[in-house]
Amino acid sequence: MTVALSVQSVCKSISLRRESIEILRGVTFELDRGEMVALMGPSGSGKSTLLGIVAGLDRPTSGQVTVAGTEIGYLPERALASFRADNVGMVFQAYNLIPTLTALENVQLPLLVPGRDSRDGERAQRVLEEVGLGHRLGHRPAQLSGGEQQRVAVARALVSEPPLIIADEPTGNLDSDTGNALIDLLLDLRARHHTTILLATHNSAVAERSDRTLHMRDGRIQ
Ligand SMILES: Nc1ncnc2c1ncn2[C@@H]1O[C@H](COP(=O)(O)OP(=O)(O)O)[C@@H](O)[C@H]1O
Ligand SMILES: [Mg+2]
Repeated sequence: MTVALSVQSVCKSISLRRESIEILRGVTFELDRGEMVALMGPSGSGKSTLLGIVAGLDRPTSGQVTVAGTEIGYLPERALASFRADNVGMVFQAYNLIPTLTALENVQLPLLVPGRDSRDGERAQRVLEEVGLGHRLGHRPAQLSGGEQQRVAVARALVSEPPLIIADEPTGNLDSDTGNALIDLLLDLRARHHTTILLATHNSAVAERSDRTLHMRDGRIQ
């Protein structure tokens, strides 16, 4: 088994006025390539903070995060941005689509980085077809249902074919049927691309469909 993600003794504290708050208190775990793992735990236990650090959007105070063999925690900002663009796709609870752009344009966004080739327009369309939205290319987010918007967000996360997908409560705003369909989609993509998936969820039905569950409490994995 290839280790896709390794998190070793990660701590995160922030200073608020004169106090230092410890949000993560030594988190350690590994994901094998192609695993889908659920991260559960009460609100405020540190799930989003951990996912942000694993995705390279935030820095650990100490500890190591290794994605696809590269330790990302202390990469310079520019190198980290470029690493993230190639290696990590993110899906959020609130979809985070750009309202003035069409579905196709939203999915093309991650490809607008130097060094990508010009066939990427076709690729964005292909990925939208893959998530079942080939007939919605020109629609803006407000013209799509919640489930469709989340599928656009998944297409955007996948378009650069990242080995790792990080999803923060991706079904949190969806009804249970639509949420289940989104998990079907992630499992299908995982089967086809060997994508490794780490997702935070409050939904035990989602966790049951994952390979295993990590439980967080007070900034630690239990
Ligand atoms: N930028 C911040 N400033 C102050 N407190 C924060 C900040 N980010 C997170 N926290 C605190 O850290 C804890 C963990 O938050 P979070 O990672 O969002 O948890 P979860 O996603 O499990 O609900 C919470 O108590 C939250 O209030
Ligand atoms: Mg959260």
